[in-house]
Amino acid sequence: MASSESLATSRAWHPRPIVAAHWLTVLVLLSAFALILGRDWVDGEALSHALLVFHRWAGLGIGLLALTRLVLRTRWHLAETATEDPAWQRWIASGTHALLYLLLLTLPVLGWVLSSAQGQTVNLPWGGSLPALMGPDPDLADTLEDWHVKLAWTLAGLIGLHAAAALWHHWVRRDGVLAAMWPPAR
Ligand code: HEM
Ligand code: HEM
Repeated sequence: MASSESLATSRAWHPRPIVAAHWLTVLVLLSAFALILGRDWVDGEALSHALLVFHRWAGLGIGLLALTRLVLRTRWHLAETATEDPAWQRWIASGTHALLYLLLLTLPVLGWVLSSAQGQTVNLPWGGSLPALMGPDPDLADTLEDWHVKLAWTLAGLIGLHAAAALWHHWVRRDGVLAAMWPPAR
């Protein structure tokens, strides 16, 4: 078994497009949460609506980024990291990544259906709008909003665990798992 020192100094980096897409997702996701939660702190209908519109754009961007990442993964493979970890730990990591992808794809679609059920048009930044996925239905809109919010906080919780695992690798295991995904470490 390699010592923690040799693990810490071993160098394996994930391909640049995968690293760039990962950290761009982090930025856009933080914006999506900040924009929608920021509505509690602002006065005025117009500003509140603008924040919702930006939230929708950020949310749609996250869905597009997740699709892009899946396409990137068919072209580039992740570098081999955490090779010293037991199989069950690597299985949990892969399962968490799969769940993250699932939520990153499900939430934007749910937001889109929810907006349609609220009778609201989802305008696009460059003009035009997305088609309504259904007619207005206030009761269903409430249920969909409930699910949208619950899944959003499930995603936030999962990201907390995922980030904690990355920091555990970095500070406790002292292997190259975080460095492989960390642009300045190159
Ligand atoms: C918006 C928040 C985040 C999301 C949605 C996310 C999602 C993902 C996904 C899906 C992967 C799998 C690899 C891929 O397909 O690119 C991954 C890998 C990784 N993430 Fe994140 N991540 C987030 C935040 C973070 C943060 C805050 C950290 C560090 C503190 C981090 C560190 C890592 C590392 C080190 C890997 C590589 C894991 C490995 O080699 O097995 N991520 N992330
Ligand atoms: C990963 C992407 C997304 C995340 C993480 C997310 C997260 C959230 C959160 C946390 C809330 C609840 C805020 C609160 O408690 O007040 C919310 C509300 C909402 N989101 Fe999203 N969202 C995403 C994508 C979208 C998209 C793509 C749309 C529409 C196209 C959308 C439309 C909405 C709407 C309409 C509400 C309810 C606002 C209201 O009427 O008060 N979301 N979202």
